[in-house]
Amino acid sequence: SLNIENANTGQKIPATMHGVILETNVNRDDDGGLYAELIYNRAFQENNRSLDGWSTFGQGSINLNISQPLTSALPAQLRYSLITNSTSVSGIRNSGYYGINLQAQNYTASFFYRSLPGVYVPGGKLNVGFSDSTGQIIYGISTLDISKAPINIWFYYSFDIIVFSAAPSTKNFFFIEFPLGSKGEFEFNLISCFPPTYKNRPNGARFDLAQTFADLKPGFIRLPGGNDLEGPSIPERFIWNNTVGHLENRPGRRGTWAGYNTEGFGLIELITFAEDIGAVPILAVYAGYSLDGKAVPQDQLQPYIDEVVKELDFLTASANDNRMGALRKQLGRSEPFDIRYVEIGNEDWLGAAINTYDYRWTTFYNVLSKRYPNITFIATTAKTINSPPAVDDHFYQVPLFFIENFRRYENVPRSGPRVLIGEFAVINDDDSQITNPFGPGRLVYPSIKSAIAESVYRIGFERNSDIIIGGCYAPILQNIDNTQWTPSFIVFNTSSVIKSTSYLAQKMFGENLGNLILYSAATNNTITHQSVEKGQEGDGKLGNLYFIATKRTNDNTLIVKLVNVDPTDILINAQIQGSTTSSTGVAYILTAGSGVDPSTVQNTMLNPNAASITEQSVSARNGTWSITVPSWSVVVVTLTL
Ligand code: AHR
Repeated sequence: SLNIENANTGQKIPATMHGVILETNVNRDDDGGLYAELIYNRAFQENNRSLDGWSTFGQGSINLNISQPLTSALPAQLRYSLITNSTSVSGIRNSGYYGINLQAQNYTASFFYRSLPGVYVPGGKLNVGFSDSTGQIIYGISTLDISKAPINIWFYYSFDIIVFSAAPSTKNFFFIEFPLGSKGEFEFNLISCFPPTYKNRPNGARFDLAQTFADLKPGFIRLPGGNDLEGPSIPERFIWNNTVGHLENRPGRRGTWAGYNTEGFGLIELITFAEDIGAVPILAVYAGYSLDGKAVPQDQLQPYIDEVVKELDFLTASANDNRMGALRKQLGRSEPFDIRYVEIGNEDWLGAAINTYDYRWTTFYNVLSKRYPNITFIATTAKTINSPPAVDDHFYQVPLFFIENFRRYENVPRSGPRVLIGEFAVINDDDSQITNPFGPGRLVYPSIKSAIAESVYRIGFERNSDIIIGGCYAPILQNIDNTQWTPSFIVFNTSSVIKSTSYLAQKMFGENLGNLILYSAATNNTITHQSVEKGQEGDGKLGNLYFIATKRTNDNTLIVKLVNVDPTDILINAQIQGSTTSSTGVAYILTAGSGVDPSTVQNTMLNPNAASITEQSVSARNGTWSITVPSWSVVVVTLTL
């Protein structure tokens, strides 16, 4: 049986408890992922400057040109040349990031265009639109009058393309077409096209992926990076001021994991996205170390600290009396952003980073903590530094590790740092690989077993709400067409979004977050666990069942999370002490099903709904209710108290 004390006192649970991370490059999670831009290599930056993704149709040829660039940030443009008057409609086309998924909706296209002397375009009009892979079927088209474009001067065009019905395939092209008889040299840069975005933000997020984030009800979002914060080298780090302002002034940089970062989804877009999905941003700032193993020497750190001060001023200062705040206003956002957490660096316990983190943390922290007293600064490790206010733990492991570490945060001193678990995931379902989880057996997709072990660990976070800021699975996104890391939370391609078992488990936790821990204790005939090891939450474990009882006080809801890692079902008879309440609630259940090996159940591209959350009603009579917690399952019971 499970005894629950209904009280209005007890440990408070922070709203940040279950969050997400956006790494801005791994698995093409940003460009080609969450960033809704459809045009691949829109400014010819991929592969060290190239025309990747671009081709011609009809007649003419393309090459890269660097004379009279659009801006110094985008120094190369596509030149389309028709040497003699074309005898067929001709032009250029782009295949998108691994295809273009066309739906019946409005698309917003734009580009910069320059005519070279001597051009001739009959009627002065171009057609811009979408076709199928053969170019024969046109799904949407817009006619653009370029007759007024002055020779030799860059000219900006923005226009809509209406697609009236969805295309059956995603192997489509975006094209710019010149009429028959055209001749001359024509240049383009920053050729862009967006579908409708999440919350209709211009230059915004891909709707289905953004909604998938939002559905988790994430308490926080850690960004940017992971490793993409550090970048492949010091000059290729995340430089915030290169990611704001007009797109033609954003140079981008080589991605840490994949291709080129356009940084179209830059600092403002990232933090605005956090606001749009209701998540507190946990901002990572560059701390003088990059992935080529080079660290900025101590006596040369000042410019990097100045860079972060400007970044934080830009985000948080008043637009009236601060130069950076005024710049933010000029870029369209007058109100400061609410930045409560800033992490200094990323994984400075890895590689050569650890040798220098002591002076890097100390130098950054001393300046930043004085200037921003309301921000909690998070260290990436406490191994070499003294008592930071908070520390970020990362674990990629096997299920057994997370189950065995259920009490990990009960054993950390309360006088020490608060804890963010900024990256964790089961990456290997084979428990015998606990000392080598990155070795044989690496998962491609999370399984029910992984999701269950992560849920045990997550209950441990909630139980330790006095020091835990929150935790997030990593990495969150995986473009199946350009993958560097598996498993991931959300797997996608141009048209589909797969919610993994790990995603579903966290969704149950995020949607059902209490704000207060209730004391609870479970007993059966043979085992009694009523000892209170810490605080008022009770033991949280009965054999292979892990649990927590919490309360959401604003609507007086009891939320009980139960995770069964046993191969048998467990019947729970629960009693809310002193309660005479009778109500009907819902149990949300994620399980492999009786007798099924939980490692074999995975939501994949081929079988996206192998596991799903089912619902069952739960009735309380005079404060008692019962539920069978299936073998290998995560169950969340919600009941009005
Ligand atoms: O999430 C994948 C990577 O794992 C992150 O970029 C890095 O911080 C960690 O090593």
